[in-house]
Amino acid sequence: MKTNNKKIALVTGGSKRIGASICEELHKSNINVMIHYKNSKEDALHLKDKLNKIRSNSTDIVQGDLCKTESYEKIISNVIKRFGQLDYLINNASSYFPTQIDNLNEDDWNDLISTNLKAPLFLCQAAAKFLKEKKGSIVNITDANENNPKKNYIIYNLAKSGLVSLTRSLAVDLAPHVRVNAVAPGAILWPEDGQESEVGYRENLISQTFLKKQGTPKNIAKAVVFLLSTATYTTGEIIHVDGGGTNK
Ligand SMILES: NC(=O)c1ccc[n+]([C@@H]2O[C@H](COP(=O)([O-])OP(=O)(O)OC[C@H]3O[C@@H](n4cnc5c(N)ncnc54)[C@H](OP(=O)(O)O)[C@@H]3O)[C@@H](O)[C@H]2O)c1
Repeated sequence: MKTNNKKIALVTGGSKRIGASICEELHKSNINVMIHYKNSKEDALHLKDKLNKIRSNSTDIVQGDLCKTESYEKIISNVIKRFGQLDYLINNASSYFPTQIDNLNEDDWNDLISTNLKAPLFLCQAAAKFLKEKKGSIVNITDANENNPKKNYIIYNLAKSGLVSLTRSLAVDLAPHVRVNAVAPGAILWPEDGQESEVGYRENLISQTFLKKQGTPKNIAKAVVFLLSTATYTTGEIIHVDGGGTNK
């Protein structure tokens, strides 16, 4: 079923946490949303129902494992089948876990590089002709530490620095039709699996930020909406939403 007169956004990893906040903020800005998820179907359905109650027929969900190459075309073609167009792509999905130089392996590489770098590239490739038709826009979610590598996260660091580079390359290659930018979050939400929960770690990190506080998913979502909707003379830019950063 198609919906007229509204812009359409695809948010990867959009069912919860920062991705869900991006979906909600886009929706508030009158944009219809395709929520991509991998495992979190219940969260995705819950968010879909919530948004469709606010504006009927405005939101749907699409499943896909971003470690599988065949997912990329499939996800984009599902958006087109469902909504008939694609105006905005937000590459938010990510895997995040430590990889120590002594024991990292190819499975770690494939997972972290696929979700954080390969999928954004190939989703952009699959989406490019639809985005060009609509003079659309892309936002990649990177990491404020892209130039300040976090110890024992070598592959994640590499993937996110690559995503910054990809953002700039795509801004060149898709110009002048499609703008491509990134938002680089600082400390927004702690991992759900207990990483970074050692005594004092989180407090220490926050105390190092200029603003001495943790950010919120809404801070990220508002920056995304700004880049997509308002920043019409901006491309190839990385906006840091990190309280001024740490370790400077
Ligand atoms: N949280 C922070 O403070 C922070 C700081 C710096 C940067 N960031 C960046 O901001 C973005 C959002 O952060 P977050 O903490 O909200 O992310 P998150 O919860 O760690 O992950 C977001 C989603 O990514 C999806 N995902 C993971 N592996 C996938 C795969 N193989 N295929 C498809 N989807 C996959 C998961 O979807 P399902 O649940 O559906 O499986 C997950 O819900 C990420 O790009 C992250 O790197 C976050």
